[in-house]
Amino acid sequence: MKEIKQDNKVSRREFVKQGSTVLATAAGLSALGAPAILSAQNVNSRINLGVIGTGSRGGSIMRAIRDHEQSLITDLCDVYPPNLEEARNYTGNDKVRMHTDWRKVLEQKDVDAIVVSTPLYLHVQMSIAALEAGKHVFSEKSMGLNMKQLNQMLAAAQKHSDLVYLVGYQSRLNESLKMVRELVEAGSLGRITQFYCHFDRNQTWKKEGLPPEFDRQLNWRLYKEYCGGLLTEVVTHEIDQVLDVLGTMPKSASFYGNIMIYKDGREHHDSIMGSWEMEDGVLGVGTAHLSNASQGSGWSLLGTHGTVESYGGTLKIYWEKQARHLDSVGIEHKFTTIKLGQSLKESESPNLTPAKVITFDIDSSYDLATAREFEHFYDCILNGVKPIMDAVSCRNSSIAALMAYHSSMDHGRRYTREQVEAMG
Ligand SMILES: NC(=O)c1ccc[n+]([C@@H]2O[C@H](COP(=O)([O-])OP(=O)(O)OC[C@H]3O[C@@H](n4cnc5c(N)ncnc54)[C@H](O)[C@@H]3O)[C@@H](O)[C@H]2O)c1
Repeated sequence: MKEIKQDNKVSRREFVKQGSTVLATAAGLSALGAPAILSAQNVNSRINLGVIGTGSRGGSIMRAIRDHEQSLITDLCDVYPPNLEEARNYTGNDKVRMHTDWRKVLEQKDVDAIVVSTPLYLHVQMSIAALEAGKHVFSEKSMGLNMKQLNQMLAAAQKHSDLVYLVGYQSRLNESLKMVRELVEAGSLGRITQFYCHFDRNQTWKKEGLPPEFDRQLNWRLYKEYCGGLLTEVVTHEIDQVLDVLGTMPKSASFYGNIMIYKDGREHHDSIMGSWEMEDGVLGVGTAHLSNASQGSGWSLLGTHGTVESYGGTLKIYWEKQARHLDSVGIEHKFTTIKLGQSLKESESPNLTPAKVITFDIDSSYDLATAREFEHFYDCILNGVKPIMDAVSCRNSSIAALMAYHSSMDHGRRYTREQVEAMG
């Protein structure tokens, strides 16, 4: 088997240092009298960030980026006072301004970019208003709650193409994903026929002990008015990566869901399972649940020549030993001695080569992966780099999740992409 060499060990310090080349470029421009932030309305030497929604993810983002010299968190906003107050500790800025009305953040003239880390139903409203106010936008995933929001968001991002709009599908920047993309493009896995996406946890998702007036709003993951449950919240990460590699979209989806364990008044299922049929006939399974974590979170691609599994920043690659239909596939196998049209003996066992295991340090660290996605965000703002997690591709990932969601809410009825897109 051909060896795949991967030198991807980067410490947090080196990683931050590497990122500072962006700052150096910006500083150089400033010294020449040019604005450091080329497309923003002001000329700050750092990107001033306003963070709207300072809960769990907002806090993780702030902790991951507080060492970054390219940005400064100048404004915080949350409607829940304990979360807002706690966030103050993560900014590294004792002059940070605090707000409870998110529109006030957009009014700050010296704010260059907004981080939207509120519940899903608010992403689009806040992101569009921020673009209208001339701010760059980092919005958490998914892109929007329904088709109407997705369409409005795409139109606004296209209208404000001078500003950066980037969605927080951070795994899209994974080195492991890049390697899978290369394997698939080179034909090394042969013809892909199936994929599997899992996002499995053992946790209730329900926050206890909240003041009654905040209970529903902070337990937003449980209710239809705020998000699409497991599908728009977690499976969306996995299908996003698979779509990126395959370069196709689902034609239809059929999903089932049940509330198996947590009969506490929630509206969203705690267990879902189903399948997508892709435009080119590839079949994919999606599962997620909140009562068993054994399968972990990740995805796999199965092809005529091999299989790749991507879990938590580690790739496992297996090659098929018996590939009796290689002649019809018409792609030469790169990693074994199997020749096109060759039929191997059925008795050969096991059927797969041992897994080639490759771990990618940054991909496997939630903090470093978050820091990396903000490095990309800064790069888009400062250097005009095109966002990788852009409005078009993130709308597609959101549609794939919505197709599964609507089917799961309709007892597994198959929903086509056209039906979901027509929903508005
Ligand atoms: N990319 C990732 O890996 C990742 C991980 C976790 C969460 N997320 C996403 O981040 C977002 C937030 O998730 P979370 O886990 O932090 O939820 P959370 O409930 O912990 O935090 C959301 C915060 O938004 C605040 N909020 C609600 N309405 C508001 C309003 N009108 N104005 C200002 N603040 C408001 C809430 O008070 C809360 O503090 C979600 O979209 C989620 O899908 C992404």
